[in-house]
Amino acid sequence: MNLSLRALSKAFAGKTVLDAITAEFPPLRSLVLIGPSGGGKSTLLRILAGLETPDSGTVALDGEPVDFAGGEPALLRYRRQLGIVFQAFNLFPHLTALENLTLPLVQAHSQSPQDARDVAQTTLARFGLADHAHKKPAELSGGQKQRVAIARALAHKPRLLLLDEPTSALDPEMTAEVLDAIEELKAEGRHFVLVTHEMGFAREVADEVAFLANGKILEHGPADALFATPQTAECRRFLSRVLRH
Ligand SMILES: Nc1ncnc2c1ncn2[C@@H]1O[C@H](COP(=O)(O)OP(=O)(O)O)[C@@H](O)[C@H]1O
Ligand SMILES: [Mg+2]
Repeated sequence: MNLSLRALSKAFAGKTVLDAITAEFPPLRSLVLIGPSGGGKSTLLRILAGLETPDSGTVALDGEPVDFAGGEPALLRYRRQLGIVFQAFNLFPHLTALENLTLPLVQAHSQSPQDARDVAQTTLARFGLADHAHKKPAELSGGQKQRVAIARALAHKPRLLLLDEPTSALDPEMTAEVLDAIEELKAEGRHFVLVTHEMGFAREVADEVAFLANGKILEHGPADALFATPQTAECRRFLSRVLRH
């Protein structure tokens, strides 16, 4: 994907959260956003997802500007091309894993119920969830729920997957399970933007890492370079804090 951000700003109640972010990324398959809590990572991801409208500035994906001025119909069309996974697995609690996948395929992507079911079953199986297809979220472990959420986000073959701290609610074993699933997506050539606090994983899976703090991307670059030789004092300080343990 090609991603370019120009003078992107967002404030909530007069407080600047994204501060005229301009960044031109090289063509990439995976971008990982890191940075301190409150720095604006989720807000940026929600704007990339078309779930939030910037106050000013532009986002272009593969050369096409996202049509924020077009309002909800334009953003809905845009969002349908994406897969979105947030930190709390936002599955429908009253539906089974299978139904969680089929419902959006039928309702948002106009697939026939039979096609949707076939796609849902194949996608769940691909994440090792075939045996859990008929369970409701309450009957699944945290790791399984998050894998269902990732399967759901991928079932319609989105051009880009956006993941916001997909492991933050999980214990270490389940974290590993979900990170393995993301690593496989990378191996398959899927394109994604990921926010994570798992630095080892970020380094492994990112083509490019962006460090976001105080509403600015203070630096970005290839993962190895950014982790080995961060260019800004803020990024050096952040990495030395999070990599200490
Ligand atoms: N909908 C909102 N309304 C008001 N303030 C918000 C909203 N979303 C985020 N913020 C504020 O914006 C800042 C950045 O938040 P966020 O983008 O969630 O950062 P991060 O994901 O890096 O922790 C925080 O101070 C947060 O409280
Ligand atoms: Mg966040």
